[in-house]
Amino acid sequence: MQILIVSGTPGTGKTTISNNIQNYIEAKVISLNELAISENLIEKYDTKRETSIIDNKKLIGFLIKLIEEYKKGDPEFLIIESHFSDIVPEQYIDFVIILRCDPDELYNRLKRRGYKTEKIRENVQSEILGNCVNYFMKKPINTPILEIDTTMASIEFITKTIINILTKSVDIKDFYAGKVDWLEKLFQEDRLQVFFD
Ligand SMILES: Nc1ncnc2c1ncn2[C@@H]1O[C@H](COP(=O)(O)OP(=O)(O)OP(=O)(O)O)[C@@H](O)[C@H]1O
Ligand SMILES: [Mg+2]
Repeated sequence: MQILIVSGTPGTGKTTISNNIQNYIEAKVISLNELAISENLIEKYDTKRETSIIDNKKLIGFLIKLIEEYKKGDPEFLIIESHFSDIVPEQYIDFVIILRCDPDELYNRLKRRGYKTEKIRENVQSEILGNCVNYFMKKPINTPILEIDTTMASIEFITKTIINILTKSVDIKDFYAGKVDWLEKLFQEDRLQVFFD
């Protein structure tokens, strides 16, 4: 069983894509957000940021046991998806793919979801700064960090791209993190203040 970590700012499509991958290859999916809620691994609710604070220590302990259980069934792939999937211990990581999304499109996706302005702003800023990529950069992992720009890509196209990466049907160098740079794009367009006022 090989483990794929899918990360990315909320709204980049992690859950949608991870579930769709299951239509094509033998893969199990663990959504860390759902797991934390269903197993009550929540420390508290942050009302100001409208988000649950997860008890990482408990979640990691639970996750390791779950991974070991899945290993017994030996599916071809296990996908662990969440915007905080960098908490997965490095010995359980075979592939890392970060989904990225242009700030304007991400803004629209989160708005459609009914997120409040402050929450949209916080998430879009996080995407501009590339936080999800940076978290993995700090981890001592043996596999390259890959990223896919989902802005203009269909769910089917992204799904097939990931399957090609997993089955080594494409040159993964084309997906090495570092090409997506919203900060530079907005700076060039003189639009940084739109998101960081
Ligand atoms: N490639 C895409 N093109 C257009 N819309 C997309 C794409 N991927 C996802 N979406 C849409 O964006 C929304 C967010 O997708 P999804 O819930 O999968 O994101 P997520 O990364 O799992 O977010 P969260 O971290 O909050 O769980 C959904 O309405 C989904 O249909
Ligand atoms: Mg999700």
